[in-house]
Amino acid sequence: MALIDISEQKGDIDRSHGIVESLKIIKDQWKIDMSEMNALDMFAGDGTWCTNNIKEEVASMTCCDIDPNKLAKIEGVKRVSGDIFDCLDHINFQKFDLIHIDNPSSIWKTNVDDGYAAEYFRLLNYVPRLFEEKCIVIHNLNTAPYGEYTEDSLWAQERREFYGVEQSGLLNVNDLVEFHKQYYANFHKIEVGNITVVPREMYEGIIYWWNIIYELKK
Ligand SMILES: C[S@@+](CC[C@H](N)C(=O)[O-])C[C@H]1O[C@@H](n2cnc3c(N)ncnc32)[C@H](O)[C@@H]1O
Repeated sequence: MALIDISEQKGDIDRSHGIVESLKIIKDQWKIDMSEMNALDMFAGDGTWCTNNIKEEVASMTCCDIDPNKLAKIEGVKRVSGDIFDCLDHINFQKFDLIHIDNPSSIWKTNVDDGYAAEYFRLLNYVPRLFEEKCIVIHNLNTAPYGEYTEDSLWAQERREFYGVEQSGLLNVNDLVEFHKQYYANFHKIEVGNITVVPREMYEGIIYWWNIIYELKK
């Protein structure tokens, strides 16, 4: 499946490009055998965008999503339905070899604290508790939110605070890679091994969505 421009698509769309390429990188470039892995998918939906592709590669998988009807469509996995922060409590911070965070690309509702979260920002804090010695994490980077995104929105405010930037509408993907390396090394004292960014989707000719894939080692 080729990289698609979401502005030109109608009807059912195959949005699997980013995950297909990410899985190839892990297996063919990093030479990692995924067949024995236990994976966690934090926002599995009905699996069609990416979760089903991961399921094909690993030995076992736990899939979380707030929507039980979507989740019911994914077969052969452990399903945990509810707000993601409750799901993490429910699975009692079991340990995983692969963590996929396919968060809504927006502000989204949760049961905790002030009732909302932005992208994957708050979830990164939970990652160190979710693996033993090493793990691969895949999540999305949004460098150029499309549509009616403005700097005075709550989402923009969260992006500026998280990344420590003055404007958040157009970010450089290489800066974000560096940001994540520093985040784990400085804040969690966790070593980042391989790290690769894969274009995931375009909007009006601009790549706005990327997968960042990285290896973490304690
Ligand atoms: C980008 S989609 C996931 C697509 C999915 N990974 C796939 O392969 O098709 C984001 C998902 O986040 C879920 N979601 C939204 N808020 C949530 C929350 N508070 N807790 C858990 N899941 C949530 C939505 O139901 C939606 O399925």
